[in-house]
Amino acid sequence: MGRAHLSRPIQLALASNIIHPETTILDYGCGRGDDLRTLLGLGYDCVGWDPVHRSDGERRPSEVVNLGYVVNVIEDSSERAETLESAWALAERVMLVAARVDFQAGQDFEDCADGVLTGRGTFQRSRKRLGKMPRRFDYVLSCLR
Ligand SMILES: C[S@@+](CC[C@H](N)C(=O)[O-])C[C@H]1O[C@@H](n2cnc3c(N)ncnc32)[C@H](O)[C@@H]1O
Repeated sequence: MGRAHLSRPIQLALASNIIHPETTILDYGCGRGDDLRTLLGLGYDCVGWDPVHRSDGERRPSEVVNLGYVVNVIEDSSERAETLESAWALAERVMLVAARVDFQAGQDFEDCADGVLTGRGTFQRSRKRLGKMPRRFDYVLSCLR
């Protein structure tokens, strides 16, 4: 099911003027394109790419690259790091990274690698265990702890 409103990271980027009307935006791992659709509807210069839902989408260098709730669904820590690197390489001014890490193993979730498997069988990163990431993302990681 799609989201009817902009994601929190995009809302914050708009509110803090990181994204303004002239900003070029790449939504990296855009899912079904909820943010993309809304931003385009508001007149922003935005493209989106997702390996599952929009594999033919454009991955162009952009002033702002949004990596929203992507790293927490990647089970393999080296793929996680590569994804951060690939998105970062396209960011001309700012990269937004948001991760959901409040999943805990328990009744509904089963431990898997450094995260959990949800009832739908999808991987979700858990705050409890942190994998290896490139040094330059130490700050991002420290925010996720
Ligand atoms: C929870 S969804 C978030 C989608 C969107 N960013 C949002 O906020 O609605 C996570 C997305 O990450 C994508 N994804 C998984 N592995 C990826 C990778 N290596 N690079 C980019 N996106 C990836 C998935 O296909 C999925 O659409």
